[in-house]
Amino acid sequence: MALRSQSPTHTEAWKNLKNCFDKDKDTSILSFFNMEKDRVGSLSIEMDNLYFDFSKNRFSQQSFDQLIGLARELNLDDAIDKYFSGDNINQTEERAVLHTALRSGKDEAKVNDQSIYPLVRDTLNNIRSFSNAIYNGERTGYTGRAITDVVNIGIGGSDLGPQMVVESLQFYSQNVTSHFISNVDGDLIASKLEKLNPETTLFIVVSKSFTTQETLMNANSARNWFLEHSSLEHLKKHFVAVSANKEKVKEFGIETFFPMWDWVGGRFSLWSAAGLSISCAIGMDNYEELLTGACKVDEHFRTAEYSKNVPVVLALIGIWYNNFFEAETEAIIPYTQYLQKLAPYLQQASMESNGKSIDRTGKRVDYQTGSIVWGEPGTNAQHAFFQLMHQGTKLIPSDFIGFTKPLYKNKAHHDILMANFFAQTEALMKGKTREQAYRELEEQGFPADKIEQLVSHKVFEGDNPSNTLLFEELTPNTLGMLIAIYEHKIFVQGVIWNIFSFDQWGVELGKELANTILSDFKGKGAAHDDSTQTLINRYMNISF
Ligand code: F6P
Repeated sequence: MALRSQSPTHTEAWKNLKNCFDKDKDTSILSFFNMEKDRVGSLSIEMDNLYFDFSKNRFSQQSFDQLIGLARELNLDDAIDKYFSGDNINQTEERAVLHTALRSGKDEAKVNDQSIYPLVRDTLNNIRSFSNAIYNGERTGYTGRAITDVVNIGIGGSDLGPQMVVESLQFYSQNVTSHFISNVDGDLIASKLEKLNPETTLFIVVSKSFTTQETLMNANSARNWFLEHSSLEHLKKHFVAVSANKEKVKEFGIETFFPMWDWVGGRFSLWSAAGLSISCAIGMDNYEELLTGACKVDEHFRTAEYSKNVPVVLALIGIWYNNFFEAETEAIIPYTQYLQKLAPYLQQASMESNGKSIDRTGKRVDYQTGSIVWGEPGTNAQHAFFQLMHQGTKLIPSDFIGFTKPLYKNKAHHDILMANFFAQTEALMKGKTREQAYRELEEQGFPADKIEQLVSHKVFEGDNPSNTLLFEELTPNTLGMLIAIYEHKIFVQGVIWNIFSFDQWGVELGKELANTILSDFKGKGAAHDDSTQTLINRYMNISF
């Protein structure tokens, strides 16, 4: 059954939220703390080893209740049931959305009345045998040497998820070195290949469609490079594919094949065999821990009441800023360098899902949908763009993500890291008044005229909202939790915005035009606008 269609702006809750916004918009967060007795207790959630604090936000407890009311009025419960039970909620592609079934370990979900559990279980077993063999050095290359380097060739969801997880969990990796080739930029693949040894390199070509131009080009170049050093008969030892398109994989000449299914979207596919480079890098036990962490969040998401439900609350807070405060972006600031790739991963997960302007009835929406997601790890981010967050003209709600225990147990470093984490959320919220700034300049001995000149520049308006997600330690399990939290946040927002989150038609036009221009390079000559034609001409006049 399809998801119900209802415009959020036509609900009672939306009207109430508008009134709430009028009251809250000029109230400081600190005033909310003063007015509401147990604000931290009410606006925080303990979930397993996660402590989620959302009290540093620009809403009263009453407004928060209205946000919860919005989710209720829009029948979020019903949508969640449909999501987990395999209804075709990806309506424009007539597909179920069941990446959650890949980590449930239960024979629960059905597609076209057929249990998918046997498929999932068998594939997991195959992933286990394969990655164990790589990990233990039993699967060797054509000269009998163990595989030392695993190269994931894929793009979008067939790259960003696996790459983010492998980088985030490099503390747990052993035996093999992982590489990722996504961009069709020939300089990338050339620079990677030049450092690899064909005898000890395994290529995992990941493409759900197996028609993606960049991936096929890169896979072809990798194959040519391999064949320059070896021969066709050895290809099977060095190339495997993960795809939903078995025929195309066969045509390409790869024998070892792991399936993907149309009920797993590309950007949610790291839980499927698309995660093969993860299990090869960190071992199957750790990979399964990742699935277990995500599964824990799935259960939480399905059962916890909305006001204590981490993904639901995160989604509603995002809607509050996006639709009422008209914030355009949201920042993701992890306080660990390991999560450097989290923001790019979430950009695809969120922006490809909810960057839509047509609602579920086919009409253009008259409200804002998906926001711009970006970010960098702290403390580096503090020395890059925090100036704008503290004193710029834009409102940027942010999620701060941290871990109480460092992996290398270096307390001195971790104290500084975490002091900065907490200080930034405090500074963003509290700001600094003109009086405070004035007093400080006086104490520093500045003369009155200099103080007058400087003081405005030293003021921080404050009231910049943030959420804090504080986990115990960065493990495969906690990373699985974190990813699933954001996946469900994206789902909830799509339900509320009344859009289809699981298709991505917006990526097609650019692909079509790229193919036309590629034909132009070969002499076809399609009609273009003046600007594009001039660029094409300039490029074609260069010989290399
Ligand atoms: O960018 C569009 C997209 O279809 C993504 O959704 C997907 O993750 C990516 O391309 C790669 O697609 P494929 O796995 O089919 O190569």
